[in-house]
Amino acid sequence: MSKGTAVITGAANGIGQAYAQRLAIDGFDIAVADVGDATATKALIEAEGRRFFAAKVDVTSPASTLEFAAEVAKALPPVTALVNNAGIYPWKSFEETDYDLWRKVISVNLDGPFLMCKAFVPGMVERKLGRIVNVASTTFWLNSTQMTSYVASKGGVIGFTRALAGEVGASGVTVNVIAPGLTNTKSMRSENQEIFDYLPKVQAIPRVIEPSDIVGVVSFLCSADSAFVTGQTIAADGGNIRN
Ligand SMILES: NC(=O)c1ccc[n+]([C@@H]2O[C@H](COP(=O)([O-])OP(=O)(O)OC[C@H]3O[C@@H](n4cnc5c(N)ncnc54)[C@H](O)[C@@H]3O)[C@@H](O)[C@H]2O)c1
Repeated sequence: MSKGTAVITGAANGIGQAYAQRLAIDGFDIAVADVGDATATKALIEAEGRRFFAAKVDVTSPASTLEFAAEVAKALPPVTALVNNAGIYPWKSFEETDYDLWRKVISVNLDGPFLMCKAFVPGMVERKLGRIVNVASTTFWLNSTQMTSYVASKGGVIGFTRALAGEVGASGVTVNVIAPGLTNTKSMRSENQEIFDYLPKVQAIPRVIEPSDIVGVVSFLCSADSAFVTGQTIAADGGNIRN
């Protein structure tokens, strides 16, 4: 029996694709919103015997996110989980960050979760069931240079999550954050290859984090077992312990 549909943004690639596969194994049907082609993810989900829907969606667009919500409501109702994973992380110093780049990062990483919540939270509140997982990053707590727009956006995600949790808690909807540490994806390797040589060494578990290492956190936050966990941020970073 299906646990309903989990909507995952940015699940055509990288960690989002791994969240999608894990939630399919957990018994969710999967709907992917991505600007990219999600064919590879479709194969993984159907291999688990679950239903799949995807559309080209730009999470920065109110029209695109609302249209997607209407399509999912027809194709795979009801939506019981939403994972706001789509994100970008251009490696640029403060000096190199112009206003356009700043706006772009804030738009994808922070406006995106806001717009997806605007599209899907009303249905969850009406049905009195929903699990929302927003994706931040442990860069928020670290000495993270060349990432001013990114760290600002992820701090915003944590604040947004805490505030929204308070508004929807009485309706059976939880809102939490997973904050991954440096994780092995093609995009991250192409942004900064060298960081993989030194950052894993300072983790309590001193090896490179794979997407499969962290999917269990999202699985828990989308499960019935996490019904009384809300407004929280869970770092999945191999124990990059500071202070
Ligand atoms: N990889 C890491 O080390 C790491 C660490 C901490 C947090 N994160 C966060 O995890 C998330 C996924 O990271 P990843 O490394 O898997 O990235 P990725 O580049 O592999 O995947 C991101 C996906 O988001 C999609 N996307 C980008 N802009 C979009 C938009 N406007 N609308 C819809 N989809 C869009 C891309 O097409 C892509 O499929 C991001 O939010 C990132 O900030 C990653």
